Amino acid sequence: MNFNLQFDDTAYAVHSVTVGNQTVSYRSYENIVYVSHPVDTRYQILNLYIPEAYYEGKAIGSYKAETAPIFLPITVGGYMPGAPERPGLNRSGETNAAAVALSKGFVVAAPGVRGRTLQDEEGLYTGTAPACIVDLKAAIRYLRANKSRIPGDTNRIVSNGTSAGGALSALLGATGNHLDYEPYLAALGAAEERDDVFASCCYCPITNLEYADFAYEWMYNGIHDYHMVEIRKVGDEMTTIPVHGTMTAQQIRLSDAAKRRFPAYVNALGLLADDGTGLGLNENGEGSFKDYVKSFVVASAQKALEAGTDLSGRDWITIEKGKVSEVDFDRFVSFLTRMKMTLAFDGQDLRTPENELFGTPTIRARHFTEFSKENSTVDGELAEPLQVKLMNPLNYIGSASCITASHWRIRHGTIDRHTSLAIPTILATKLRNAGHDVDFSLPWGIDHAGDYDLDELFAWIEGIMEK
Ligand code: DHB
Repeated sequence: MNFNLQFDDTAYAVHSVTVGNQTVSYRSYENIVYVSHPVDTRYQILNLYIPEAYYEGKAIGSYKAETAPIFLPITVGGYMPGAPERPGLNRSGETNAAAVALSKGFVVAAPGVRGRTLQDEEGLYTGTAPACIVDLKAAIRYLRANKSRIPGDTNRIVSNGTSAGGALSALLGATGNHLDYEPYLAALGAAEERDDVFASCCYCPITNLEYADFAYEWMYNGIHDYHMVEIRKVGDEMTTIPVHGTMTAQQIRLSDAAKRRFPAYVNALGLLADDGTGLGLNENGEGSFKDYVKSFVVASAQKALEAGTDLSGRDWITIEKGKVSEVDFDRFVSFLTRMKMTLAFDGQDLRTPENELFGTPTIRARHFTEFSKENSTVDGELAEPLQVKLMNPLNYIGSASCITASHWRIRHGTIDRHTSLAIPTILATKLRNAGHDVDFSLPWGIDHAGDYDLDELFAWIEGIMEK
């Protein structure tokens, strides 16, 4: 099949959405295949939602057809395939980000994205890395190739995602136009255009996968019980089943070994705090970097306190004269409890989502770190270094060979144990040190989630548009 990449602006329906006291009528263009040679037309499609006002020469707030920012919601979770978001309600019955974006006069470009579990008719896996990031880049290239036919300013694309979707938003933000992705884009027949974005919004990004295991054990080492949920298919339904267990002696030894690898990694990053002081760890994992991670927990507790949250039961927090003066980080972590067993991401038995992300058309799951490969309990194969490299924004931030988004908003809830708090902290700090504008915080009492603060998210986005 060969798909035409010229946008057909006649094939639309008109709908409206009401958010608060704002009703916006919009054109809905759905299921636009965004590459000429798609692998899977269930997912390599774009939905466009465009305020009708822009076809009538009108403005919404300060935005017009030529200046409206483009909001790009990423629905990928668990590195699974993600269908295009539609304006409407989320699972909790609240207005979703696409609807809020429209109500504020944004153009919404909602891409579908392949994911690790996709298979073709022959049973070959078609959504392993780097398919998900390549698809997102292809969708952005489609927008740019059609910019004269689609309202919205392609210089002001803002991506947003949660968890694996947050990681993809970060990757989009970090890797704009990098040649590493070019062969994959060319193979799909993506438009020959730029794929950089203006801003990247990342909720709990499950990112930096090569070092996520070391970071996890740096934080959770010493806690041997785990409390996770497994997503299983029961009949036709996906259900989450709580799994509790205690790590084996072998896993505990491996946790110790993984923890010991983390300081050298952090120290080699050469990260700086805002005041220019270096951030590092000694061989026991103690030091200024740990204090720095803790400082974001302290700031979060302080904000919660000021908002009237009762912190009195949290005896690992010290409050003096209305100020959170100290958090005992180790006791805070004990309070959190461990979610994932060692090794958390590159599973020894190849049973994590990330193992499947690094599969091939014919191999369901592989290792992606030497460390886990050496400790494999199933003699798993190791992914090629390039496949792994392509999935980590840390490999691209600060590179002169790509364009990194100017503006970043990164959130990770204080009680979200899906990855170490070191992971979003490293991402935010590396970006800041490279000169980018980064709004980073750890919202108090928030678990693994995204889009829970849409008023603040859009206030931030509108703020950067004025900069
Ligand atoms: C997601 C959660 C995980 O714990 C993980 O390892 C990967 C992805 C997610 O929610 O997308």
